[in-house]
Amino acid sequence: MQTIMHIVGARPNFMKVAPVMAAMAKRPGEFRQVLVHTGQHYDRNMSDVFLEQLGMPQPDEFLGIGSGTHAEQTAKVMLGFEPALAKHRPDWVVVVGDVNSTLACALVAAKRGVRVAHVEAGLRSGDWTMPEEVNRVLTDRLSDLLLTPSEDGDRNLLREGIGEARIRRVGNVMIDSLVRLLPEARKTPLVHELGLVRERFVLVTLHRPDNVDDPAALRVILDALAAIARAMPVVFPVHPRTRKQIQAAGLESAAGSIRFLEPLGYLDFLGLTDAARVVITDSGGVQEETTYLGVPCLTLRPNTERPVTIERGTNRLVARAGPAVARAFESAIADPARKTCAVPLWDGGAADRITDAIAAAGPRSAGR
Ligand code: UD1
Ligand code: UDP
Repeated sequence: MQTIMHIVGARPNFMKVAPVMAAMAKRPGEFRQVLVHTGQHYDRNMSDVFLEQLGMPQPDEFLGIGSGTHAEQTAKVMLGFEPALAKHRPDWVVVVGDVNSTLACALVAAKRGVRVAHVEAGLRSGDWTMPEEVNRVLTDRLSDLLLTPSEDGDRNLLREGIGEARIRRVGNVMIDSLVRLLPEARKTPLVHELGLVRERFVLVTLHRPDNVDDPAALRVILDALAAIARAMPVVFPVHPRTRKQIQAAGLESAAGSIRFLEPLGYLDFLGLTDAARVVITDSGGVQEETTYLGVPCLTLRPNTERPVTIERGTNRLVARAGPAVARAFESAIADPARKTCAVPLWDGGAADRITDAIAAAGPRSAGR
């Protein structure tokens, strides 16, 4: 029996951890599971709603870290996590994605000689100014088992000198949650409640510091979205970071007829994504979900760590906001609404492959 400690902290973690916990729960004699929630995200609609909708257990340990600078947040997670690790003595710590909680827990585990498995390993934007890129590179370096979603992940890791024996291509575990819950998400009453018509509205999410922390940059983006909203309804569930910046800069009036909403739960958001004509985002996960669904996506960033979404033709980078957004929007709505674009191993079976890989790698004594 191996003890597996899973880490969640921020919104994009829940939909990656839930399928892995469910897959391991199907093999009860093999795994004892412990769930740690760092509390990096804490509002109900950034955290608890995902535990509930994804059918996850209540966390065994809640660290209550909250917000802060990168150093504060990372250090607080490390301090909070170390006693939890000592208490439960896991064979593996499983971390997902690229948020501060991911790196902090991987670092504590590695220093205490506990094996680390990184789900969503190998993604690279090549942009060292992104905090997530720092987190990805360092977490991969600290991990014993690197579980990649796509071939580019393997290539990036091999190029960085990581041994092939530590890399397993398992596919995209976020898509496991999507596949399971899409039928339910499609029943969301929200499209109707908001008076929207399927494939005749635009869905927006934005939270990258580059886009939202500088009032001038945020204003240019809101102006571009307000222009689009004159042609087609624009619905924008606003991340708390972005809400704070819009309020601080007094930009509510720049919004025109953009419809701001609170952050949505997983089912409502997935239902809206599936129904949207175009999605405009800077989210990592949303680029992947739109690719799976074949929904045109405009990503307001100069680069992406998910190149497969561009290769499949659903996702397009828009490096400069302003008129370029309107042009990209016009060209997106000139395309057919949906593209068929299956990505290998984005099939709903990634969590089973992750479970197999961890089982095969064996308990603590195996060493690197
Ligand atoms: C974090 C991740 C980012 C990820 C995003 C997903 C890092 C470095 N960043 O960014 O990679 O894409 O989560 O959503 O880990 N806030 C609230 N309530 C909450 C959470 C946050 O009000 O429940 C506000 C606080 O003012 C906080 C700000 O949002 O200061 C930013 O939160 P933080 O976790 O630092 O970074 P995110 O921008 O959410
Ligand atoms: N999401 C959600 N409600 C929202 C916005 C996003 O449920 O209002 C989901 C989205 O479907 C995806 C995940 O949150 O599964 C992505 O998280 P986020 O964009 O916060 O982080 P990133 O992927 O950029 O790290």
